[in-house]
Amino acid sequence: ALPIILDTDPGIDDAVALAAALFSPQLDLRLVTTVAGNVSLEKTTRNALQLLHFWQSEVPVAQGAATPLLRPLRDAASVHGESGLDGYDFIAHQRQVLTTPAFQAMRDLLMTSPEPVTLVAIGPLTNIALLLTHYPECAFNIRQLVLMGGSAGRGNFTPSAEFNMAIDPDAAACVFRSGLDIVMCGLDVTHKAVLTPEFICTLPALNASGRMLHALFSHYRGGSMSTGLRMHDLCAIAYLVTPELFTLQHCFVAVETQGEYTAGATVVDLDHRLGKPANARVAMDINVEGFREWVAQMVKDCP
Ligand code: BDR
Ligand code: CA
Repeated sequence: ALPIILDTDPGIDDAVALAAALFSPQLDLRLVTTVAGNVSLEKTTRNALQLLHFWQSEVPVAQGAATPLLRPLRDAASVHGESGLDGYDFIAHQRQVLTTPAFQAMRDLLMTSPEPVTLVAIGPLTNIALLLTHYPECAFNIRQLVLMGGSAGRGNFTPSAEFNMAIDPDAAACVFRSGLDIVMCGLDVTHKAVLTPEFICTLPALNASGRMLHALFSHYRGGSMSTGLRMHDLCAIAYLVTPELFTLQHCFVAVETQGEYTAGATVVDLDHRLGKPANARVAMDINVEGFREWVAQMVKDCP
């Protein structure tokens, strides 16, 4: 199975991505790292531990950055609730985080892993930028970075920026300049990766995970489920497990950091107008029916 590190800010769609990372037989989740984003770092870390406890997983958790590199945190509590995982009462547990911070725990794993490790980043890219800046020697053992973030079109947090990019544009710019093999799953596909209310209603009958996810979904975006729910972060895991569902375009991507109104915008040069070498493969389309079938099976495979 493919060894992965999941960098996350749970977050309701992060919770689904974590389920898929844990229970997809094609993947071997080695480390979870937390970052401030949807809610504060304290809450995203608590949420990650609660989710792993719920799934009785021993995967280690390392706590990452509490703020973006150069800017104050702005959160998405309006989407995910004050806790970040509103809607479900998780039971108490004794699990602790590692004593090393996230970027160091990533380094330790990367430097000792006999096989290359895939990074999956589904929050602001702060921890990944810290890793690449402090420990550039790790890059040799990073197989690929698959990230949820950005958009070739419009944004969802500002008119031109997607949330994960908007929160830490400086980190994102650093990551896209890094030379890593990057797959970007942005709004171009995640806005299509919608679960219908009819499907969501079938979840409680499946298993305990289905009941928990259904409870979270009932609070996602203030409970407005009628038009379906976008599974942004799950797309990054779906890409790793079922890449054939995605259409990618290899091109140059830069992240705007200076714009008065556009900080965090991903400039995706689909038509090669800038004459710069491609640095990312950008997911531009997804087979939605295939995605839904995969999600249904994935939740069935959960406990
Ligand atoms: C991204 O923003 C967060 O709210 C989600 O968890 C996802 O990572 C979507 O723009
Ligand atoms: Ca997220």
